[in-house]
Amino acid sequence: MATSTTEQPEDRSQHVNTPAGEDVTLRHYGRRTSDKQAAFLLPYLHPGMDLLDCGCGPGSITEGLARLVSPGSVVGIDRDPQQLEKAQVRMANQDHANLRFELADLYELPFTDNSFDATFSHAVFMHLSDPMAALREIYRVLKPGGVVGIRNPDFTGYLIAGADPAMENVWKLVGRLTEQRGGNAYMGRRLRGMMQQAGFVNIGASASYDSFGTEEATQHWGNLMADYIPLKITFGSSWTTVSPHVKS
Ligand SMILES: C[S@@+](CC[C@H](N)C(=O)[O-])C[C@H]1O[C@@H](n2cnc3c(N)ncnc32)[C@H](O)[C@@H]1O
Repeated sequence: MATSTTEQPEDRSQHVNTPAGEDVTLRHYGRRTSDKQAAFLLPYLHPGMDLLDCGCGPGSITEGLARLVSPGSVVGIDRDPQQLEKAQVRMANQDHANLRFELADLYELPFTDNSFDATFSHAVFMHLSDPMAALREIYRVLKPGGVVGIRNPDFTGYLIAGADPAMENVWKLVGRLTEQRGGNAYMGRRLRGMMQQAGFVNIGASASYDSFGTEEATQHWGNLMADYIPLKITFGSSWTTVSPHVKS
């Protein structure tokens, strides 16, 4: 796996904004919801839990999680100030007294040991060049008996509709780009093993798809990819989910 770690040891994760910048991020990540992207974790959450969302981006999933665990508190952290700004703007007109966003790096979480009842992370681990270090941090801040949900894609599972080989190739290109930046396009399958290695117990893995199967969604994804690379594609994406992980 190609990684920029040796060249830039201080930058252990990739900046995931697409070249088209903030519009693309908001347009795409902003569509995500806790009901869909955190569905696997929801049965383990209940009101009153304190939850940490690691790499929250613009916070659309975080917001839903805050509603679910209220009056428990939710902190969304991200290392990218631009992402947090978008989260703040999204939250500006909404009343979420139990939700806050903080600039922080997953590798050095600014929380004391055993701070949270639950942690969540979506579409982040594939971008980390040292995912084990991030898992150790999550383990550290999780209370004994706490629950962890991590969801990440595994590019092998992508289903692409359309016979044009260019559409297959474009996704291979996106995978290579991810790995060039120090990430892992096949993170989904590795999560369970890494969780075990990090010391979590009661680990369960599952798989689910984010589908872009309506005309509007296909259009959305095509436009998104057109900003990312000069090709239009339609596809459904596969994800591996790992939940719940209970700290012993
Ligand atoms: C693909 S986005 C996902 C955002 C959000 N979780 C979602 O699914 O909508 C990945 C996010 O992880 C953040 N990120 C990457 N490495 C990080 C790190 N080491 N610490 C904190 N955040 C990180 C990026 O800044 C980005 O906002």
